[in-house]
Amino acid sequence: MSAYEHLIDLDDYSDEDLDSIVTLAQDIVKYPRSYSERCGGKIMATLFYEPSTRTQMSFQTAMLKLGGTLIGFDNPSVSSVAKGENLKDTTKIVSGYADILVMRNPFEGSAKAAALTACCPIINAGDGGHLHPTQTLTDMLTLKMEKGRLDHLKIGVCGDLMNGRTVHSLLKALSCYEGNEFVLISTKELRLPDYIKDIITKRGCKYTEAFSIEEAVGDLDMLYMTRIQRERFASEEEYDRQKNVYILDTDKMAKAPKDMIVLHPLPRVDEIASEVDDDPRALYFKQAHYGVYVRMALIISILENRIHPLPLLKGEIIKDKHCHNPKCITSTEPYLPNSFKRSGDALVCDYCDSKL
Ligand code: CP
Repeated sequence: MSAYEHLIDLDDYSDEDLDSIVTLAQDIVKYPRSYSERCGGKIMATLFYEPSTRTQMSFQTAMLKLGGTLIGFDNPSVSSVAKGENLKDTTKIVSGYADILVMRNPFEGSAKAAALTACCPIINAGDGGHLHPTQTLTDMLTLKMEKGRLDHLKIGVCGDLMNGRTVHSLLKALSCYEGNEFVLISTKELRLPDYIKDIITKRGCKYTEAFSIEEAVGDLDMLYMTRIQRERFASEEEYDRQKNVYILDTDKMAKAPKDMIVLHPLPRVDEIASEVDDDPRALYFKQAHYGVYVRMALIISILENRIHPLPLLKGEIIKDKHCHNPKCITSTEPYLPNSFKRSGDALVCDYCDSKL
């Protein structure tokens, strides 16, 4: 059991907690100056084992705007990780220097693993292809600011639905709101994992699947475009087969409703033609700027103990069972307890959510 209020997975928080973060972010958008000393004297560590522009810099900007200071690395090869230091030791050391630690790591479940031994709150800034909860908070603030609501929305998500951690976190969060309906636009190879479809259904929302933007775009409130995640493919050939299948251009935008908004977690490669940038419905740059405000709200909420997550490990420890997912953090950090949740007859890894 952890003594800290980490943000690993938005599922660990109540709807009230999530609403309170978004509401606080809306207030910060309106009155940013009144928050400028809120984290005076506090230190944030940002440990980025994977590249990032928006998440890393928006967290750093958020902490500086709150009056706090920063330590960390954006390339593990310049830290003692390059000498073979494991995640547990790095986390234990850095969390003793900082008041709050933001981490991105390529292994699924890595933020949860770090939180098990940290001595300050951990924020998951992306754990492999698994989750990216603070991108979802950014998307929720954008929807609230631009559409005025988080419920009764018809949402299209397009691209790499298999590997896109932003999509996984977003669908899980928005399926908690009444009346939301999802159109999953992807190739057969890059379909959404079944466990996320099960969550959508269990929470009472509907989804349909589509193979083209044209067939889906006519009655959407929001189209969420995503990048094909080159770094998650086993080979360049597999990536080449999937890249450039979906490109949003002005012809497709002409088929969309006048008030549909287009979001993208960014970075984009070719999936949105640059001609779309001039369309007033293209809000992806504004969305990235909202990310600073929602991260300010999150930092305040965690450091002031305003939100209360569920415990980190929810399953049972089964010593002789191991997760089979090679991208799971348990494959590289063997000291971690082998914890599994039950889903019907199946066991599900507590770190990466893969079925055994
Ligand atoms: N959206 C997002 O996570 O962007 P970065 O990879 O640049 O942080």
